[in-house]
Amino acid sequence: MRLGIEKILQKDDLGRDDLIALLDIDDPAEEAALFKRAYEVKQRYVGTKVYFRGLIELSNLCVKNCFYCGIRRGNGAVKRYTLSEEEVLDAVKFAHAARYGSVVIQSGERQDEEFVSFIERLVTRVKEVSHNELGITLSLGEQSEATYRRWYAAGAHRYLLRIETSNALLYKTLHPDDHDFEARLESLRTLYKLGYQVGTGVMIGLPGQTTADLADDIAFFKKMDVAMIGMGPFIPHHETPLAASIPDWQEQKERQLRRALRMIAAVRIQLKDVNIASTTALQAIDHVGREMGLLAGANIIMPNLTDTEYRTGYQLYDGKPCMDENATMCAGCLERRITSIGETIGYGEWGDSPHFKNAKKEH
Ligand code: 5AD
Ligand code: SF4
Ligand code: FES
Repeated sequence: MRLGIEKILQKDDLGRDDLIALLDIDDPAEEAALFKRAYEVKQRYVGTKVYFRGLIELSNLCVKNCFYCGIRRGNGAVKRYTLSEEEVLDAVKFAHAARYGSVVIQSGERQDEEFVSFIERLVTRVKEVSHNELGITLSLGEQSEATYRRWYAAGAHRYLLRIETSNALLYKTLHPDDHDFEARLESLRTLYKLGYQVGTGVMIGLPGQTTADLADDIAFFKKMDVAMIGMGPFIPHHETPLAASIPDWQEQKERQLRRALRMIAAVRIQLKDVNIASTTALQAIDHVGREMGLLAGANIIMPNLTDTEYRTGYQLYDGKPCMDENATMCAGCLERRITSIGETIGYGEWGDSPHFKNAKKEH
């Protein structure tokens, strides 16, 4: 191992150049040392208990047209769906009975009143059917302050909104002209102000993204003082404008996975006590990708609760796993995967990040 890397791995606070050096590691021994160090930091600050967030993919209707995403408005090949209230509550009851700490309601973006009030009602009903026991995370894109307020008042307490990249110029190349980086930032600030536990994240290995961009993303997470991070590798979707952006995908995908794992490790080392998701996109590249994410420093898993009949409708990228499975199968499968690497599952706990609790004490 290079002496430089060894030294960086002993540091507590990493500078921009240190982060770039870690993210650029190519040597397997150095990479193993990076993951080992990240795992130590994870054990020390958040432990090795994995928290489950049951994921409900509510709807693939979306008013946006992001160039990378398989359910973008412009993709006419997708059959659109929206779950009924009853279908959502069935998933919620499953999560509650399986003693997951919380559920995540995610969908494409819509701002119309019908949607806003549907969500408001769902949040209230989730609280009722779980006797206030399930935490609720929303992942429903950019909304007005008034909407975020209504959903918070109804009982949602966490919100996931990825910045996708903290580089405003790169953001512009990945979205049509009417998508606004500043609006995304403003949404994150509003969520924070309203008292939500805020999660954000980026895609790793985007076309045109440099290692310095990723290092700056980590600085951005720190500056925004976020409690949760959800990141995954960018994976081309065949029906999108970025379909051909990585032409030799089969040769590149392993590198793409390793880059994403190094990013998880670097974020763990630098931010220490935040919750980091081991995302499904990791498993889209390698069947043990999510276990690799946990071993590189992540501590959150989002088991899919969506009914099998809708799963193929929610493919943001190609190769998404568990298309023919249901909630029960994913639950058992993930439990086996987690115990196979010697970790445990925090059943029946919300699993707020120590960072959120620590920050609260200080304020
Ligand atoms: N590859 C990887 N992640 C993607 N997302 C959307 N499209 C892709 C893709 N092609 C991610 C975005 C979004 C989240 C819900 O899914 O980061 O915020
Ligand atoms: Fe819609 Fe989100 Fe996909 Fe963009 S990334 S097209 S906002 S679902
Ligand atoms: Fe869904 Fe393994 S995680 S079946």
